[in-house]
Amino acid sequence: MKKSYYITTPLYYVNSKPHVGSAYTTIVADGLARFKRMAGYDVFYLTGTDEHGLKIYQAAREKGRDVKEFVDEVAGQFIDIWKKLDIRYDYFIRTTDPDHEQSVQAFFKKLMDKGDIYKGHYEGWYCVHDERYYTEKELGEGNLCPECKRPVQWIREENYFFRLSSYQEALIRHYEEHEDFVAPDFRRNEMLMRLKSEPLEDLSVSRSSFPWGVTMPGDEKHVIYVWFDALLNYITALGYGKEDDSAFKKYWPADVHFIGKEINWFHSVIWPAMLLAADIPLPRKVFAHGWLTVDGEKISKSMGNAIDPVAIAEEYSLDALKYYMLRDIKFGRDGDFSNENLKKRFNYDLANDLGNLVSRTVQMILQYRNGRVPEAKEPFTEEDLSIQESARGLYPSVERYIDAFDFTEALETIWKFIRRTNKYIDETEPWKLFKEGNGARLDNVLFHLAEAIRFAALLIAPFMELTARKIFDQLGCDPDEEMKRGFGGLSWGGVRGKTVRKGEILFPRLEDEKKKEKKSRPDKEQKKPPEGITFITYDDFARVSLRAGLIEKAEDIPGADKLYALKVRIGQETRTIAAGIKAWYSKEELPGKQVVVVVNLEPRKLRGIVSEGMLLAASTDKGLSLVTLDRKDDFFNGAAVR
Ligand code: MSP
Repeated sequence: MKKSYYITTPLYYVNSKPHVGSAYTTIVADGLARFKRMAGYDVFYLTGTDEHGLKIYQAAREKGRDVKEFVDEVAGQFIDIWKKLDIRYDYFIRTTDPDHEQSVQAFFKKLMDKGDIYKGHYEGWYCVHDERYYTEKELGEGNLCPECKRPVQWIREENYFFRLSSYQEALIRHYEEHEDFVAPDFRRNEMLMRLKSEPLEDLSVSRSSFPWGVTMPGDEKHVIYVWFDALLNYITALGYGKEDDSAFKKYWPADVHFIGKEINWFHSVIWPAMLLAADIPLPRKVFAHGWLTVDGEKISKSMGNAIDPVAIAEEYSLDALKYYMLRDIKFGRDGDFSNENLKKRFNYDLANDLGNLVSRTVQMILQYRNGRVPEAKEPFTEEDLSIQESARGLYPSVERYIDAFDFTEALETIWKFIRRTNKYIDETEPWKLFKEGNGARLDNVLFHLAEAIRFAALLIAPFMELTARKIFDQLGCDPDEEMKRGFGGLSWGGVRGKTVRKGEILFPRLEDEKKKEKKSRPDKEQKKPPEGITFITYDDFARVSLRAGLIEKAEDIPGADKLYALKVRIGQETRTIAAGIKAWYSKEELPGKQVVVVVNLEPRKLRGIVSEGMLLAASTDKGLSLVTLDRKDDFFNGAAVR
């Protein structure tokens, strides 16, 4: 039987829709869930919405809405946004689900019967926003809530109480016997210090001043405290207390609860005490991550689209957003979601390192081996063996980091391998091997490149599935098959016999904002275009990619009297270009000319050959002259022409 893995996010309050901050936990947890699935675990990934309590009740009332209608609408927005962000949860729980409500009541009753919930009264300072009481000591100046800085209210209620105080000793013991129960370390220490230094007070777990919550069994004037209700979702979602509790048996205890640091006390003290009271095993780990700011500022509604995760994904691509969040923000620490850094990661890690590696490799296999990934044969060089060894060591070290929830290092490890593979191209210089006719060596190099890319694609797949699928497709591997086989496919040699195909550019480089601004800023004294000319913007022009290339060879094309098939070297690649210049140039005079090539023109089949670009030339009915560089130095080869 497969090993199970159960991971949860907090349930989000439905008083506002998700922003990058709240999407953060869900995206990270999704990456972890996918990683474990690909590693062969039977994963249960749970998320959902927290829909009860005074805060939600008031939010709906302020808008003049029916509360149930209001929570249905916002819960729908969450589901919709998670879909757009391709979050693959196994279950979405809403605390207004009748099943959940019944299980909460059954749990409450169980604790009442046991004497762990009793009737009493409570008065104290209450923060409506955070749904909790504070002691005098905890309040800030002017009786403000220490968390959200809003004014607190003095409330006296007849309430039911949970005997939290009975569990202080047991909790301390649990912390001491399970050193890694709460992570990171400094969050564990915070909790343990507090547990050891102040007596735990019993917790008020019912409310009678408003009606929006799970009705208390046996006393209908009360609703159950929203946190008591919400925390239970982690077991009610698995069918705890129901006739069919097979999911609970299979997945509980949770492997990890992901939460934000401000709700650590609820998860690392109150929740385990509730479980101890009901004789249910405690979760294996609570991981409290830090808080995000956006470009240095606290997230607020006035930031509009800048904090809308869907808008960000649309601007940069979903995979870039996920990669950035996991790679740049150290999980567990506070972090800044910086657009500037996102762009850098996009251009350096994604466009340069990964994108170029894939496009260069596919291009070379197409060009030198007609698209077939060649066989690799002994003897292998030191460089080949080093690639094989790095590939083999990749999964174990990435897995170690993932199990420590260090997504930054996990991705950095994959990128080290990607950069190592790029270096392998520089070390082996396949274009030279081709030129020298060193076929056996070239076969080995191309094989190692393709296989290393397949390894990298498999390992990034949990975090960037769309990109991984595009890469599999370009390598001629079936994306569905690869995803299904998961990390089982990490045995050296899987790319053997595949036929690559050219695909779209994975991550087209982003332009520098400042440059873009300069370009689009209209000139103060913009002139009218002269007759017969329509102005285009610089961006229009920049869409045409021109490069300097060296004609290496010109050949006739059977049956074509106007065309030559030219071999043109542009930087590290050589392209075939069909050019209609036969009437004006002999085959012999063309090699050695540095010409200007349009390199991003869609490839076209002309007289049986695929032409990959176009040369610039001046032409009239009297003649044709190629545009050539007037300096011959080889370092111009491949240079952008502007
Ligand atoms: N409903 C409770 C949780 C109940 S769990 C049984 C709650 N909801 S919340 O909507 O206020 O917060 C949900 C999660 O979003 C928390 O883990 C919180 O840390 C996270 N974040 C909200 N804003 C955030 C940032 N700016 N940065 C990172 N995470 C943030 O608390």
